[in-house]
Amino acid sequence: MTDYRTLRVALLGAGAVGSQVAGLLLRHGDELADRAGARLELAGIAVRDPDAERDVDLPQELFTTDAESLIVGSDIVIELIGGLEPAYRLVLEALGSGADVVTANKALLATYGAEIFDAADQVGASVYYEAAAAGAIPIIRPLRDSLAGDRVRRIMGIVNGTTNYILDRMDTEGAEFAAMLTEAKQLGYAESDPTADVEGFDAAQKAALLASLAFHTSVPLERVHREGITHIDPAMVDAARHAGYVIKLLAVCERLDASDSPTGEAISVRVYPALVPREHPLAAVHGANNAVFVEAEAAGDLMFYGAGAGGIQTASAVMGDVVSAARRHMAGGLGVGESTRANLPIVPIGRVTTKYQITLEIDDRTGVLATVAGILSEGRVSIATVDQTVIEDGGVARLVIGTHKAVEQDLSDTVRRLADSGVVERVVSVLRVEGD
Ligand code: HSE
Repeated sequence: MTDYRTLRVALLGAGAVGSQVAGLLLRHGDELADRAGARLELAGIAVRDPDAERDVDLPQELFTTDAESLIVGSDIVIELIGGLEPAYRLVLEALGSGADVVTANKALLATYGAEIFDAADQVGASVYYEAAAAGAIPIIRPLRDSLAGDRVRRIMGIVNGTTNYILDRMDTEGAEFAAMLTEAKQLGYAESDPTADVEGFDAAQKAALLASLAFHTSVPLERVHREGITHIDPAMVDAARHAGYVIKLLAVCERLDASDSPTGEAISVRVYPALVPREHPLAAVHGANNAVFVEAEAAGDLMFYGAGAGGIQTASAVMGDVVSAARRHMAGGLGVGESTRANLPIVPIGRVTTKYQITLEIDDRTGVLATVAGILSEGRVSIATVDQTVIEDGGVARLVIGTHKAVEQDLSDTVRRLADSGVVERVVSVLRVEGD
């Protein structure tokens, strides 16, 4: 057996992911040593309650409540506590002591990423976070390394399993939102506060991480436009299906050329439910799975697909990072810092252009369609398709209007004018179309 140097690994947190990581470190010691070029010694596991029940049977003597002491002298610190504090303080302590940090904490990085990467740079350490976006799916490494010689134009991600589960069941079974949310909670997909899932906060954190990497730009969480899915009802899902679409909560990170943006090259980062054409690969992402569709200038279209959550699945991504950190430690030299060299401006949602589908209930009488068309034309919104169905004879008709690309601000002003026009009974829905 090769005589490897030993690296000391500290694990902070032993929840669903942490306990699996500890189990893998203990079970696969020899194999990991061969891959990492160093023996990875699990020095201890810092937890709040050493006697709590865990998913994996772990030696009791590894547990400690003293995270600070465990960090001292560690080469690699794995932070799987989640949330902002004490995770933030402990990560800074770990970096300050010269350790590399592996974390799955999307909230932490989306909130304090700049400070954390700065702290890592100062000591030449690295921060690895493959598990922070889209669970088991390798997407951070492809964006950081594999596509480093390419130029990413756009990312469209289904990065929240809870909302994909809910929307998928609504689409395939005509289920109601509330019932599916209860199911997602029971199945353990949702965050402890499911508002984070259904209002798009979780996806927004992941979008900030992906966009920062893809566009070499610091993307603060508050610059990510965010909308949730609580207003999506079975009628909207049904209408989408009839028009050849499926509704998905998407994280969209987009590079805008100088021609698309009056202030020169810029980016847009946004999370919202969107209509995705049935034939698009993202439409085939079912259940709680995640997928990230990347459009790169040279590579073309790529899709990364798999489990976006789950203890053992996410532990796989964490372990990949641990091995990378160990290899870097053995090779020596400075860690690869986060690049914000482009620091492109982030445009507000009002300046984004997309296609839309507007569903209206209108008075079914002579001239109404012409009035609607007139308002759209005055608002610089060009009509691509129109589909009218009579709901009540001589009363109300449903009008589904597909638009060409329009500026968000123009579109929302136009929808307001339609609602006030006197011919529209109800604006049923306004959804962006992505991926066609
Ligand atoms: N609640 C998250 C989800 C877990 O539903 O995707 C993974 O971040």
